[in-house]
Amino acid sequence: MSDKIVLTGIKPTGTLHLGNYVGALKPLVEMSKSNTTFMFIADLHALNFMRDAAALRRHTYEIAAILVALGLDLKNAVLFRQSDIVQVPQLSNMLMNVTPKGLMNRAHSYKAAMDKNAAAGLDTDAGVNMGLYTYPVLMAADILLYNADIVPVGADQKQHVEFARDIAGYFNNIYGETFKMPEPVIGADTGIIPGLDGRKMSKSYDNIIPLFAPSAELKKKIMRIITDSKLPEEPKDPDTSTIFQLYKHFATAQEVAAFRDKFVAGGMGYGTAKTILFEKIDSALAAPRAEYERLMANTDLLDKILVDGAARARAVAEQTYARAHRAMLG
Ligand code: ADP
Ligand code: TRP
Repeated sequence: MSDKIVLTGIKPTGTLHLGNYVGALKPLVEMSKSNTTFMFIADLHALNFMRDAAALRRHTYEIAAILVALGLDLKNAVLFRQSDIVQVPQLSNMLMNVTPKGLMNRAHSYKAAMDKNAAAGLDTDAGVNMGLYTYPVLMAADILLYNADIVPVGADQKQHVEFARDIAGYFNNIYGETFKMPEPVIGADTGIIPGLDGRKMSKSYDNIIPLFAPSAELKKKIMRIITDSKLPEEPKDPDTSTIFQLYKHFATAQEVAAFRDKFVAGGMGYGTAKTILFEKIDSALAAPRAEYERLMANTDLLDKILVDGAARARAVAEQTYARAHRAMLG
């Protein structure tokens, strides 16, 4: 058991896919076995663009159910809803006062919105609300409240974690040592899982295979994977094949080696390869998928898990917030 505190947030915005599973969820669940882990569903962070409360609630349950179904260790891991901790917006508000406006001007999330507007010939701030503009301050509050040492995030979020460090530094400089410095950790294999069209699997490319799709849907998606036009008898290149690249993450080393041989030798058509891939993923995910479905049919249980998690998170958040409050207001 390491004494490092791990923390991360997942936005409840839509269906999680096999890329998220291999690149983020699986490693997080592993990490939760040997570290105190704060893992929250970042519903407040979704508010700057999600206007549908019912969808937000459903996606929140989905993420909680996925994490529990994948074996998140609820002894070490504190799983909760961001919005259940009132100290998050309170601390965020405090941190606003030590955060330079210029830092927010440089935030990737805001810059991406400006670039999109510029490309569409709109005013650069069109559709930009203060929730989006101050997004990194809210994220700094999340990170600093729970004294996180390690913050595993995708590459696109690294700058935001660095901003949390900057903001902690500004605060500590003025008010004395109050916050611990967090460290971003970027998953080594981010972006490696290809989608149906061979590009990185991503919800923005509409090429995803949902993590817990029912068998029939999973099969349909896998059969739609784009391949080259090699005939069954021709040798094929496993390293450029989406089918093989997906298979690698669900099979044993021995099975992977055997599948590679079949590609290289020729004699296996892509249809057959897809069927083998489907059967592998379907059986690998059968048990957690059944557990996911059981949990989704029992949202009372999910609520209980989230409320328990919030109580544990709050106990830490209250202490940190009290420190910041005392430092700023005496
Ligand atoms: P999307 O690209 O679908 O919007 P996100 O950016 O929400 O996905 O991804 C959340 C996390 O899931 C990322 O930080 C990354 O660690 C992981 N991830 C997403 N897509 C992939 C992929 N294709 N391969 C590996 N990991 C991925
Ligand atoms: N902003 C992150 C994302 O879009 C989610 C998030 C919110 C987060 N608060 C966090 C991640 C704190 C790590 C730490 O994916």
